[in-house]
Amino acid sequence: MTTTGTTRTTALRHFLRDDDLTPAELRTVLELTATLRADRFSRRPLAGPQSVAVIFDKPTLRTQVSFVTGVVELGGYPMVVDGNLAQIGVRESISDSAHVLGRQVSAIVWRTHAQTRLEEMAEVAGVPVINALTDSFHPCQVLADLATIAQHRGGVEALSGQTLAHVGDGSSNMAHSYLLGGATAGLHVRIGCPPEFAPDPRILADATARAAQTGGSVTVLTDRDEALSGADVVATDTWVSMGKEDEAAQREAPFVPFRLDADGMALAAPDAIVLHCLPAYRGKEITAEVLDGPQSVIWDEAENRLHAQKAVITFLLEGA
Ligand code: NVA
Repeated sequence: MTTTGTTRTTALRHFLRDDDLTPAELRTVLELTATLRADRFSRRPLAGPQSVAVIFDKPTLRTQVSFVTGVVELGGYPMVVDGNLAQIGVRESISDSAHVLGRQVSAIVWRTHAQTRLEEMAEVAGVPVINALTDSFHPCQVLADLATIAQHRGGVEALSGQTLAHVGDGSSNMAHSYLLGGATAGLHVRIGCPPEFAPDPRILADATARAAQTGGSVTVLTDRDEALSGADVVATDTWVSMGKEDEAAQREAPFVPFRLDADGMALAAPDAIVLHCLPAYRGKEITAEVLDGPQSVIWDEAENRLHAQKAVITFLLEGA
């Protein structure tokens, strides 16, 4: 029991970035994801119901729907908090907000701007904090993506050694999470991006170190075709992440050569699968032909948000 009266049965852990899970823990969470996909009501760590605060400082559709559905299916109550009303860090400090929340809820799910905001929440809250997207990372999405690759490749054991190419904005939260999460799963991760939109070097270094432990690898390439060549999994994402809307016009030209189209897909492995975290902009980062084509597994990927997030909540509350 925690001081809050909730029923976490394991040491306090958070999921703030993809490498917060060790390679073995990631396998456990992905196995649990598959179990929960097969039997949605098989785990009830939030029975009570215990509340989970689900806070949004940025727009959402999939994340709100999947966390609300997931918390309910785990036996809990999802308390959606509108970040515009709460104004965490403006009306009241992150630390004070964390104290208040941590006394009442069993976990905090937060979509916010700077990663440091999430870290500050985690330092004080006393309950697990889960990253529902920051400017730097989107680990719940990449967890779902890894679950989707496993689903289409014959299980979690098949992940190691797969080559995943992400083409587009290499400096985005998705690219960073593919680097860290992919390396943790033993994938060969290629980031194809314009040089001025390359990953954060510190995150690249962390991913390189993680890949050395798992037999995976991470590579940054400035040529789309080289990145896609022979890839087993191909991924892209918007060129204009939330918060970058003012840069939309100047972001177009550098990214056009990195568009995922049929010519690009012809370079990937013949049975390559296509991932996109959504929302997608057909005709921008991906053509409709590819997004809606036979190699696309985007609806499985979107559904897997639900199962993967339930798995990570269960892991954080109950351990392996
Ligand atoms: N990179 C995108 C991901 C959206 C789910 C963004 O941050 O807007």
